[in-house]
Amino acid sequence: MCGIFAYLNYHVPRTRRDILEILLKGLRRLEYRGYDSAGVGIDGGNGKDWESNARTIQLIKQRGKVKALDEEIHKQQDIDLDVEFDVHLGIAHTRWATHGVPSPVNSHPHRSDKNNEFIVIHNGIITNYKDLTKFLESKGYEFESETDTEAIAKLVKYMYDNRENDDINFATLVERVTQQLEGAFALVFKSVHYPGEAVGTRRGSPLLMGVRSDHKLSSDHIPVLYRSSGKDKKSCGALPRTDQDTCLFPVDEKAVEYYFASDASAVIEHTNQVIFLEDDDVAAVMEGRLSIHRIKRTVGDHPARAIQTLQMELQQIMKGNYSSFMQKEIFEQPESVVNTMRGRVNFDNNTVTLGGLKDHIKEIQRCRRLILIACGTSYHAGVATRQVLEELTELPVMVELASDFLDRNTPVFRDDVCFFISQSGETADSLMALRYCKERGALTVGVTNTVGSSISRETDCGVHINAGPEIGVASTKAYTSQFVALIMFALLMCDDRISMQPRRREIIQGLRVLPDLIKEVLSMDDEIQKLATELYQQKSVLIMGRGYHYATCLEGALKIKEITYMHSEGILAGELKHGPLALVDNVMPVIMIIMRDHTYVKCQNALQQVAARQGRPIVICDKDDRETIKSCCRSIKVPRCVDCLQGILSVIPLQLLSFHLAVLRGYDVDCPRNLAKSVTVE
Ligand code: F6R
Repeated sequence: MCGIFAYLNYHVPRTRRDILEILLKGLRRLEYRGYDSAGVGIDGGNGKDWESNARTIQLIKQRGKVKALDEEIHKQQDIDLDVEFDVHLGIAHTRWATHGVPSPVNSHPHRSDKNNEFIVIHNGIITNYKDLTKFLESKGYEFESETDTEAIAKLVKYMYDNRENDDINFATLVERVTQQLEGAFALVFKSVHYPGEAVGTRRGSPLLMGVRSDHKLSSDHIPVLYRSSGKDKKSCGALPRTDQDTCLFPVDEKAVEYYFASDASAVIEHTNQVIFLEDDDVAAVMEGRLSIHRIKRTVGDHPARAIQTLQMELQQIMKGNYSSFMQKEIFEQPESVVNTMRGRVNFDNNTVTLGGLKDHIKEIQRCRRLILIACGTSYHAGVATRQVLEELTELPVMVELASDFLDRNTPVFRDDVCFFISQSGETADSLMALRYCKERGALTVGVTNTVGSSISRETDCGVHINAGPEIGVASTKAYTSQFVALIMFALLMCDDRISMQPRRREIIQGLRVLPDLIKEVLSMDDEIQKLATELYQQKSVLIMGRGYHYATCLEGALKIKEITYMHSEGILAGELKHGPLALVDNVMPVIMIIMRDHTYVKCQNALQQVAARQGRPIVICDKDDRETIKSCCRSIKVPRCVDCLQGILSVIPLQLLSFHLAVLRGYDVDCPRNLAKSVTVE
């Protein structure tokens, strides 16, 4: 949902070519967040002095993917790529359109005026932009785009033009701007009035900073500077409060590079030293020094931001030998589920440890109900594990789509435990639902894949699924890891219940063999590709199942629709005769999931009903289920696992099928139209 990236080199000489390459590379890493258009803002001058070069800003923007921007940059005649900058700030953006069609003028960076005095990149939505635009228009500002962001660029200039003293600094200016903004944002500003300086801030959308220096950083944290005065000042304790006092690093004239990015994948090839900014932090780089400001200190604020070391490896965010990230991520699942379980499941003594929950597990065991809240694929992980959670915890379990949960003002109580399942940890609907549940006093638990994400930071406790970066827009390995993480939680909840031990052992031993069984399913890739060649020209595909596999149907249908643009519907087989049976004829492909669990006989009935209407069912079934295999026209035979884990094995053929269908239909698997990963707007 828009990617923002900025790069500032301070006393690290870089040619304009190098700088543009760093910016484009950052955008390529963030492209999965939106690919409607892209743009960069860099210093415009071609002279020898970096400071005078920074008195003009050059904007280059293009509709479409980063590749199109790259080509556009290389067409520019008026910029000398060999000019060297001792100090420079470049900002860059890849857009997922919310306000205004994808076009160069609606692309970021947006500008304050025709002279590009201030430019800004934005991820999020400004909900009061119409009021701001009206106000600024009344002051004579002329708008050129249809976006909400342009109001921010104009507002910062308005604040600058109406400043009460000439030496107002960039951070203060931005603070004033953010006080007027409603909605969600992560922003980075650049200005001809503040050469070589950068200011970034966030509220509700993610933003982190990377720092790279050959010199030792003077600290492993940065104290937050509060601007408040009066009684608030007292609550700041001994923290420095003025720009002169700021605790900064590195010291003096040493060389340093800073990166601002929507997520860590864009900075990891430059540095693993990062700072995750909090909502309303204003991070400013001035003369190579970083300071973090907040307007006032509130209860619970941490007075410093840690400089953290990322554990991510560069190869994790590269495609390797695969044709797309989605394909790579599907094939990573034997390892990603192991990583989810690593150090947590002991297969010898059948125990589960979840460090992130250990201080809260007793409280969770005493709760009155569990509510799993999520969107899209993450919601399906909740649907997939609900039954085993109910079985092992003996608690009522609700599974909620975050948007609907909020629309209904669902009653939530202090003795509820609310889970927020989110790959990105930034999904706006889930984050809003989290804040809603916190306000009502419920204990909140995050199940995320992104260390430092808003959901992982704002929940009371949680489980990182450790699936590794997921870059393909269509979620695959995160789903199976969320599935495993929720099962581990269910196992932990009943570890002292004697009556549950045989079932616990059965599931834990199922987890032990799961990676090998996933490998076995993946080895059917050629067979599934063949099936895709038979189906790829169809308009529609139905996917039916029940019990543990209803979630597989929903998830399989979502995968097919989002990357192949075919219509696909996941249908609860129990509902077949209540309507969907009317869709069945001798043309419509119907994929049926029939496994040897407690719903087997009922699924067989559904199969007969489909066959009786000349339907041509394609069945995903146990590899030794001869009866089913002989009564369908085509079967995908998967290995057998314990019933509550079988959904992991039944979903993988559908992930592969959607991938092959999309490739055969000629679509870009990683960048489905109109979509973006990490939906940070409501
Ligand atoms: C589908 C998909 C989306 C996400 C949904 C929630 O393949 O990826 O449906 O699952 O947008 O995202 P997270 O899990 O990041 O909260």
